[in-house]
Amino acid sequence: MANKQLSTAPTGAVLWGSIRGNFHSLIALLIAALVLSIIYFARDPPPPEDLVTKPMSDGIAATVSPNPSPTPSPVRDDKCNLFSGRWVYDNVTYPLYKEKDCKFMSDQLACEKYGRPEINYQYWRWQPHGCDLPRFNATALLERLRNKRMVFVGDSLNRGQWVSMVCLVNTAIPSDSLKSYKFHLNGSLIVFTAKEYNATIEYYWEPLLVESNSDDPVNHRVPDRIVRVQAIEKHARHWSNADVLVFDTYLWWRRPKMNVLWGSFQSLDGIYKDVTMLRAYEMALNTWSQWLEVHVNRSKTELFFVSMSPTHERAEDWGGVAGRNCYEETEPITREDYWGTGSEPEMMRVVEKVIGDLRDRGVTVQILNITQLSEYRKEAHPTIYRRQWEPLKEEQLANPMGYADCFHWCLPGVPDVWNELLYTLMFKNWVSKG
Ligand SMILES: *[C@@H]1O[C@H](CO)[C@@H](O)[C@H](O)[C@H]1NC(C)=O
Ligand SMILES: *[C@@H]1O[C@H](CO)[C@@H](O)[C@H](O)[C@H]1NC(C)=O
Ligand SMILES: *[C@@H]1O[C@H](CO)[C@@H](O)[C@H](O)[C@H]1NC(C)=O
Ligand SMILES: *[C@@H]1O[C@H](CO)[C@@H](O)[C@H](O)[C@H]1NC(C)=O
Ligand SMILES: *[C@@H]1O[C@H](CO)[C@@H](O)[C@H](O)[C@H]1NC(C)=O
Ligand SMILES: *[C@@H]1O[C@H](CO)[C@@H](O)[C@H](O)[C@H]1NC(C)=O
Repeated sequence: MANKQLSTAPTGAVLWGSIRGNFHSLIALLIAALVLSIIYFARDPPPPEDLVTKPMSDGIAATVSPNPSPTPSPVRDDKCNLFSGRWVYDNVTYPLYKEKDCKFMSDQLACEKYGRPEINYQYWRWQPHGCDLPRFNATALLERLRNKRMVFVGDSLNRGQWVSMVCLVNTAIPSDSLKSYKFHLNGSLIVFTAKEYNATIEYYWEPLLVESNSDDPVNHRVPDRIVRVQAIEKHARHWSNADVLVFDTYLWWRRPKMNVLWGSFQSLDGIYKDVTMLRAYEMALNTWSQWLEVHVNRSKTELFFVSMSPTHERAEDWGGVAGRNCYEETEPITREDYWGTGSEPEMMRVVEKVIGDLRDRGVTVQILNITQLSEYRKEAHPTIYRRQWEPLKEEQLANPMGYADCFHWCLPGVPDVWNELLYTLMFKNWVSKG
């Protein structure tokens, strides 16, 4: 199971589907170069890889407050667990943007464009049990990020969240966009700049957080994963001075053992050992937390860690037919506290422990606990409705389930809600910091 998971770990190819005519030509060139290099390098197979104020259409959401409060309203009840709740069908407020209107959409996530027959996955709102989420206000977020740098650091799930964030923010930027934003790629870093705000929202490819042989932003699908659990500086120097940091790392670890390297990839006398995954994960997260402790300005930088993004590869988990996966699922799971085999609680315990220890040393990382809420959304993955990096073989076409991507998430969709939660936490802090 774990090995299968890993062989289908998230792809890293960064691809921007809908490059519009009005795009800056230099950017278009950069992207074209990237696309070419992806076509050249990506040889590995892709993964089958306010309180919310609007009255809701379906009348289910009796808890929704009738009076829209202007954004950004903090969640008033500090004790409310934002991550415990249920999904409510809402085709009035959602989606928060249109897939085709987002210039930054990734072809890996553009399920509608790639022919998904029904798009109900776009119409769900997250309703916490004890409170309502504030409405996402892109202008308020940009104001908040004025003269600041926000960086998402991690794997392709985190990149999906970044794409979602840029799409959300883009709704507040005038359509005469050449003057308004710029977009550039530099190695592992992708930078979106909202010019009037001098604000950047960036993504940095670093799938295991520490150094590994999967660090190349394009050509990272290597058969044997090697990880330097004690080395992070090569990456961290590029983001340590950011004002907001959002990390994740999970799926790339899913195998029983990790090959750990002491010494550099270049050195001839490096020492390699197999270490059980959970222990190696803890070592890596400790390296990461020590870096934060020493290098991050704690009065300036806000830190977030996004918990495991669940996969839906085994329909038995939710009472479906054995041998099937998320392919052709159209409804969320409604069973309270559903938890599938795609998420490993022990890994969450490790994250909690490392972050708890770091808090004791005076650095706070807030956990964006999206695992449970995303567990319910078995229908929200791209499955076969995404760009395929390589032409499909006949036997694949004959068995679509075999190459269905039950890892990533269609956009607009679940990661938008992760960002609404992130937004809520950011404004909550802001308010409480006065
Ligand atoms: C929203 O969903 C309801 C119930 O499925 C449907 O009757 C209505 O036409 C939908 N509205 C929109 C705007 O799609
Ligand atoms: C969004 O935030 C901006 C800036 O804080 C504010 O001026 C505006 O009224 C807000 N929009 C809504 C719909 O609440
Ligand atoms: C723009 O933002 C960066 C941080 O991202 C900051 O260092 C710089 O001083 C800002 N520029 C201005 C003119 O405020
Ligand atoms: C690209 O990144 C390198 C460091 O990795 C940095 O020195 C350089 O200034 C960056 N270039 C641009 C155009 O951002
Ligand atoms: C940390 O950030 C605060 C707030 O931006 C700033 O005043 C302070 O100078 C920074 N400290 C260091 C050591 O850079
Ligand atoms: C996240 O949520 C899960 C399930 O709801 C829970 O078991 C876990 O303790 C939570 N973790 C944190 C850090 O809140």
